[in-house]
Order: sequence, then C-alpha cells, then structure tokens
Amino acid sequence: MTETFSTSSPDETAAIAANFAERLTPGDVVVLRGELGSGKTVFVRGAAGALGFRGRVTSPTFAIGNVYSGDSAEIAHLDLYRLAEIDVADEAVLDDFLTPERIAFVEWPHDELANAERLRAVVALEHAGEDQRAIEINWIGERA
Ligand SMILES: Nc1ncnc2c1ncn2[C@@H]1O[C@H](COP(=O)(O)OP(=O)(O)OP(=O)(O)O)[C@@H](O)[C@H]1O
Ligand SMILES: [Mg+2]
Repeated sequence: MTETFSTSSPDETAAIAANFAERLTPGDVVVLRGELGSGKTVFVRGAAGALGFRGRVTSPTFAIGNVYSGDSAEIAHLDLYRLAEIDVADEAVLDDFLTPERIAFVEWPHDELANAERLRAVVALEHAGEDQRAIEINWIGERA
C-alpha cells in the first residue's frame, strides 16, 4: 500500500510521521530515503515523539545510530548516509541495533537495504521547492 502526502513545513512532516508511527509495532524496521535536507530526521523526530520519546532527536553523526526510550518499545535511529553500500561488518552493526524489541528508523538514501529483515515501510522524501516536501510511504507486507 502506498500513501502520498505533500507538506509545507517541518511541523507538518512531523505530524504525518506521528500518525504513521502509531501503526508500527516492535520489531518493525522503517527505511527513510531522500536527499540531504529532504526531512528524514524531521520525520524520525515526529515518529519518535509519537512513540513516547521526550528527548531530542538529532542525526547520529559520530555513531552509526542512537537508541531512544519510548512508551512501549525502544526506538533505534540509524543514519547510514555516508555508507555507499552495506558490507558484512555493517550488517553485524545493523543486527545489533535492529533488535526485535525495538522500532527502528534507518536513514539510508540507497536502494539495497530494501531487503532488510522485518522491513515494514519505506518512506521516501523529496524536495518540492522551498519548504515543500513530497512524502511517499510504501507499506510492506500484509499488516498495513
Ligand atoms: N516540509 C518540510 N518537511 C521537513 N523538513 C523541512 C520542511 N521544510 C523545511 N524543512 C527543513 O529541511 C531540513 C530537513 O532536515 P533533516 O535533517 O530532517 O534532513 P535529512 O533528510 O535528515 O538530511 P540528512 O541527509 O543530512 O540526514 C530542516 O532544516 C527542516 O527545517
Ligand atoms: Mg538526517
């Protein structure tokens, strides 16, 4: 199932993310695609807030990922932007973060991660002029 939205502000993108996140369950992996500044981290911020995290969501810069506490599950937030591809060593790191108890968000601009285990949705964000963003959410599998 595909859902499309267009937003005109970061708050609007975060609100769509919040609504989206209410349909996630522990173990779900969400991949976020889109160019630099397209709003991937803003989307994760909205989603993490809806899942009960009250702290600050920032792009993991030095570490590959952060873990936040939510109401009913931990939230993993990974940013793989600088990886051109995922090798075996990265897979091990991914496995450590993407546990079945967590809800995971992975910022990753490339295609290949689409076969991640437990992939639940792919969110694609695109610049559409100034503060406009086009958002496409592709739900994977039956439960959408
Ligand atoms: N409609 C919008 N939705 C989301 N962000 C917007 C929107 N309009 C403007 N912005 C701005 O665009 C920027 C999005 O930054 P963000 O860090 O979320 O992008 P990103 O895709 O995570 O980038 P990176 O690839 O560097 O991680 C923010 O500065 C935000 O304020
Ligand atoms: Mg980001």
